[in-house]
Amino acid sequence: MGTVIATDREGAEHRLEAREGHTLMEILRDGGLPIEAICGGQCICSTCHVYVDAEWAGRLTPRATDEQVMVEDSGHYEENSRLACQVPYVDELDGIRLTLAPEF
Ligand code: FES
Repeated sequence: MGTVIATDREGAEHRLEAREGHTLMEILRDGGLPIEAICGGQCICSTCHVYVDAEWAGRLTPRATDEQVMVEDSGHYEENSRLACQVPYVDELDGIRLTLAPEF
């Protein structure tokens, strides 16, 4: 078990309990953050878009092609963009920091 540190769209920081076996999207959603995740993690809606802090971004598995296409089409793409539903939480990510991307 670990912690995900998420900054919401108003700039408030939230420390969320995280367990392996869940995606970052599930951790954000279950932690009460306003992340829509309309498609339920199918990589087809981009409503789970987050920016992973630079110090952590390089530790994640690279984006797959479908994730890359979706974040690039989101209108708010940054180099550190990720779809939270495509990033499984593992204990090595304890303390990861991320920020919710703007809504559509
Ligand atoms: Fe839809 Fe992540 S929940 S793309």
